[in-house]
Amino acid sequence: MQEAVVVHEVGLRDGLQNQPRHVHTEGKRAILNALIEAGVSSIEATSFVSPKAVPQMADAAEFYSSLPLSSSINYEALVPNERGYERALAAGAKTVALVLASTETMNQKNINMSFKKALKVNIEVIARAKAEGVRARSYISTALHCPYEGNVEPSIIYEIAKQVHDAGANEIVIADTTGGGNPAQVKSIFTNLANTYGTDILAAHFHDTRGMGLALAWVALECGVRKFDSSIGGLGGCPFAPGATGNLATEDLVFMLNQSGYDTGINIDKLRTAIKVAQSYVDQPLGGKITHWLDSQKN
Ligand code: COA
Ligand code: ZN
Repeated sequence: MQEAVVVHEVGLRDGLQNQPRHVHTEGKRAILNALIEAGVSSIEATSFVSPKAVPQMADAAEFYSSLPLSSSINYEALVPNERGYERALAAGAKTVALVLASTETMNQKNINMSFKKALKVNIEVIARAKAEGVRARSYISTALHCPYEGNVEPSIIYEIAKQVHDAGANEIVIADTTGGGNPAQVKSIFTNLANTYGTDILAAHFHDTRGMGLALAWVALECGVRKFDSSIGGLGGCPFAPGATGNLATEDLVFMLNQSGYDTGINIDKLRTAIKVAQSYVDQPLGGKITHWLDSQKN
């Protein structure tokens, strides 16, 4: 039997948050339905952030409340603070994603909090989620590289991981927000974390800014990680992290995993249909590195 790998689709949040053309709720529903049709079963649907900070997510409550519920689909909502957590819960969220950047400047730029304050808020919300039976995924963002402060000392990542783990996080997600990381960093961080916490609690979130997304994913896979974020068509880029381009493309990740004997549950042809749907709502040309090869197979 093939080993399963969870491909967590973040296009609707990380992907859309930076798009200059506004995507209305109906457009998000169309993309979501096409993703589900392709077999995607783990989805970051939205973020309950300030609509002034991220106008694309202003419809978070409306969109989240109307998600098609199924026991086979796990949805998640990103929350930056307690207010976001409460809004997410009111909309029916059972899993929330918390975000803590590794550096002072990135926390200031992203959530207008000092590192110390952001750590406190993360820990409080994680503890509250645990007490209330809500799953908490704890993102450590700019874990490999910060656009403002450069390369990040791994000891900071281990300290944050310890604190969020002790607070009760269900998952620790190492996020290369800018795509500025390299495979050696990924190997060393995931080896350390896997030795400390085991692999079940770990997940990886990579961007493909420098064409290294798949290399980073493969290294993490070899360290035992079995949960990966990605975005259809490589959609994405953080508005608060200059220079960051899109996430690792879901089709590239799924193709690599499927070819290597892992079970993602995702049909690549139907995924391509979902990318076409997403393309109709954004101006940025979508498509991962596998696109041209897949096109050539059709002729
Ligand atoms: N959802 C919606 N509105 C929120 C909110 C939330 N989670 N948290 C705060 N607000 C509102 C406040 O009510 C207030 O509204 P008002 O101006 O109408 O009175 C306003 O936002 C400012 O509140 P304040 O607590 O002072 O927040 P801030 O201006 O310091 O911003 C964040 C802090 C975290 C809300 C904001 O920086 C943010 O949403 N960042 C998210 C960035 C992001 O999504 N990054 C990518 C994902 S990691
Ligand atoms: Zn990201």
